[in-house]
Amino acid sequence: MKQILEVENLQVAYGAIKALKGISFRVAEGEMVALIGANGAGKTTTLKTLAGMLSPASGQIRFDGKLHSGIKNYDLIREGLALVPEGRGIFSKLTVMENLEMGAFSRTDGKDAIGADIDRMFAVFPRLKERAFQLAGTMSGGEQQMLAISRALMGKPKLLLLDEPSMGLAPIIVQKIFETIREVVKGGVTLLLVEQNAKLALQTCQRAYVIDGGRIALEGDAKDLLHNEQVQKAYLGE
Ligand SMILES: Nc1ncnc2c1ncn2[C@@H]1O[C@H](COP(=O)(O)OP(=O)(O)OP(=O)(O)O)[C@@H](O)[C@H]1O
Ligand SMILES: [Mg+2]
Repeated sequence: MKQILEVENLQVAYGAIKALKGISFRVAEGEMVALIGANGAGKTTTLKTLAGMLSPASGQIRFDGKLHSGIKNYDLIREGLALVPEGRGIFSKLTVMENLEMGAFSRTDGKDAIGADIDRMFAVFPRLKERAFQLAGTMSGGEQQMLAISRALMGKPKLLLLDEPSMGLAPIIVQKIFETIREVVKGGVTLLLVEQNAKLALQTCQRAYVIDGGRIALEGDAKDLLHNEQVQKAYLGE
């Protein structure tokens, strides 16, 4: 199995605060992997570091076989990595359509291919098609999350990083978004999913890592972790 992402002993600090104290994990091509953990565990820090927005104090990130520590966000998108950040990060003053076009900025395969992919996103999320010319900032939270995911996919990433896609959304919208995430991944994207909703993440992904205080506390098959007593007590409220 080809590894798309290999993280070795990654340490990241904000000044004196050590947020990541040496984490290692890997994601194989085509896999759906979850990173779960409590508030402040270091999940967002991990994704931001992968996306080149934070520089590691030490450790290695290998993406698609190449070393990638400390490279800027912009380059990573060209290499095939897309982050949907906490809070979504869409362009609120642009329309839905313009956001999707922006998502494709690094592509060189031409207008027709990009247009076909916009149509594909509209087929997956008909709500976005209805709202194509609405300003993104005036859409509901769920619609904005759909747009953020679609925009990230417009860059044709090899690896999609999602930070808390369920945050602040009603359960029924969360279900819809997760159904779509599963579909999209079947279509050939690899996914690293960060979620505080551990149950949903473990039901969605094949494998998972539990992060606690900047360290990997547990790892394994998502189904095994769902039934793990420690995980149930700490993260599933059982
Ligand atoms: N910009 C920052 N400056 C200083 N400390 C930070 C900063 N961002 C995060 N931290 C600290 O780093 C640690 C990890 O934060 P991080 O945002 O990665 O957690 P998280 O697992 O994503 O949590 P949540 O589930 O609440 O989003 C926390 O202790 C947090 O206070
Ligand atoms: Mg976070």
